[in-house]
Amino acid sequence: MLRLNFLILWAAAASLFASALPISDVSEEEINTPTPEPKKTFWKSFNPNTDFRNRNFNTISRIYNLTVYPNQVPILTFGGAAFVPKGLFAQNVVGRVDPVGNFTGFEHSIEYFFALSPLPQANPSSAAITSYKIVEFSSECRDIAASVVYLYTSVVNPGSPDHGKPLPPLKQVAFWKFNKEGEVEKYDAWIPNLNSWVTRTTMASLGNPEFQLESIRQICYGTQARCYGPNQQWDSIEDCVVGLAKKNYGTYDEAWGDNVVCRTIHLVLTQTRPDVHCPHVGPTGGGKCVDVEYPENYFSDKWLYEEETGETFVCK
Ligand SMILES: *[C@@H]1O[C@H](CO)[C@@H](O)[C@H](O)[C@H]1NC(C)=O
Ligand SMILES: *[C@@H]1O[C@H](CO)[C@@H](O)[C@H](O)[C@H]1NC(C)=O
Repeated sequence: MLRLNFLILWAAAASLFASALPISDVSEEEINTPTPEPKKTFWKSFNPNTDFRNRNFNTISRIYNLTVYPNQVPILTFGGAAFVPKGLFAQNVVGRVDPVGNFTGFEHSIEYFFALSPLPQANPSSAAITSYKIVEFSSECRDIAASVVYLYTSVVNPGSPDHGKPLPPLKQVAFWKFNKEGEVEKYDAWIPNLNSWVTRTTMASLGNPEFQLESIRQICYGTQARCYGPNQQWDSIEDCVVGLAKKNYGTYDEAWGDNVVCRTIHLVLTQTRPDVHCPHVGPTGGGKCVDVEYPENYFSDKWLYEEETGETFVCK
């Protein structure tokens, strides 16, 4: 499934398509929703420097813009931080993305948001996010916002008759908390129906044993190719196949667990920081692809956000 020579392919594809790809069509109208007459004067006299609603919308919009192919490619290829513009995420950002995991710190968060955005050269459907639209947005106070985004995907495979063909969109629902500088410092996000999206996009029957074995083989080829030396996880490809075949295959609606689908996701990240991510695809799951009993994994707010449950994403 994952082609290891993707870097070369990317270089070719990105230079061909960087300018031809649709970029988001977020417009100013969406931000300036009509307000009743008396309030209009208030908005008009509002100092743009203190207009937190626009500021927060723009921050969220710029974050999703970086998931659009090929904007995420430098972050994926060259490992991150330097390619994420300032002002988007705080250094100490923490958050959770159901059903994938929780993330502590800047590197983990940006890798989740950007490095996991599908690379057309690395999946059999040549799927990539090619545009996005924030379809629901609210920010009643300076430090909190809520949003729903549609991430539109399509085939990116120049020269193929399917190039440009729309694929099903992904949805992400999120609450955000910003620091004084307007950077995201906490988030709680959810991608509904991720398993249906994967199934529809890849046309794969995830329950089919042959498909499962093939995907295990792909993970094992990828793991052995990227996780070597101090990062080595398995003695051999065969050892890996035997080890993973004993694990639950899992579903993308519950990708946080000691299962195979969790490793398909984390394998993508081994190309950015193998030292950090190789253990996640190995025998133990390295603290990421591990079975955390429901509800602990999705309700440990106090631990994750270091605030009383229910206090983090409310205007005060
Ligand atoms: C989206 O990102 C690209 C590449 O980083 C940039 O050129 C473009 O201006 C951005 N668009 C918006 C609306 O932020
Ligand atoms: C995620 O949350 C669990 C508790 O549910 C915790 O044990 C784990 O260390 C957290 N991981 C990160 C990266 O924050």
